[in-house]
Amino acid sequence: MQAGYFVVGTDTDVGKTYVAVALLRHFVAQGYQAVGMKPLASGCKRDANGQLINDDVMALQLAGNVQADIETINPYRFLPAIAPHIAAQQVGIQPDIKTILNAYQSLKAKADVVVVEGAGGFMTPINDRQTLADVAVALAMPMVLVVGMRLGCINHALLTVEAMQARGLHLAGWVANSPAPTAMAHLEENLSSLQQSIAAPCLSVVPWQAETRFNLP
Ligand SMILES: Nc1ncnc2c1ncn2[C@@H]1O[C@H](COP(=O)(O)OP(=O)(O)O)[C@@H](O)[C@H]1O
Ligand SMILES: [Mg+2]
Repeated sequence: MQAGYFVVGTDTDVGKTYVAVALLRHFVAQGYQAVGMKPLASGCKRDANGQLINDDVMALQLAGNVQADIETINPYRFLPAIAPHIAAQQVGIQPDIKTILNAYQSLKAKADVVVVEGAGGFMTPINDRQTLADVAVALAMPMVLVVGMRLGCINHALLTVEAMQARGLHLAGWVANSPAPTAMAHLEENLSSLQQSIAAPCLSVVPWQAETRFNLP
């Protein structure tokens, strides 16, 4: 078993959280100590104590079985549901990779497996100069690509895979997730095209509202 996975999506709203939660449950069910992490989250709410909290982060916390404080699980939290680097600019913050790396390392020390969920797609900016891809390189984790099975997904998937390869990242596999109640037209043909063109295993095909099972050790 790998010590963790970095879950990226072909886009926002493709099922990264859905798959990250399922991965955490998979590892917990196997008896591992597992924890989720979301380096940056925009679109937060305020809880009763006025703390910013994000739905994805709450879902990851519930799915894991290792306690850690919010600063570590989710070092950067922003109120508006906009691109994280713009939300950060609005409050005068420059998210930095060192902070994210330190938080990740402290989770790694506490758990057998850390599941990190990205934000948006692979090249989502995190500040004026860097993107989530730079975070992935710094964390040097195997990647899991969640492909949102909808029209345009092959192009998005292949661009993402190429960008990972260009950075020397290891793609452990991809998950075909249907992020809508109605499956896309020609789902099977789209799956075969993805299978033929991505040089990494398909870890799971997840229909809408299905329990997710992974072809993972
Ligand atoms: N396979 C699925 N079955 C049921 N609901 C899903 C599935 N995949 C995604 N969703 C729902 O679609 C929405 C977007 O998915 P989410 O995992 O939040 O995407 P992302 O993290 O990539 O933004 C959420 O409400 C989520 O619960
Ligand atoms: Mg999410």
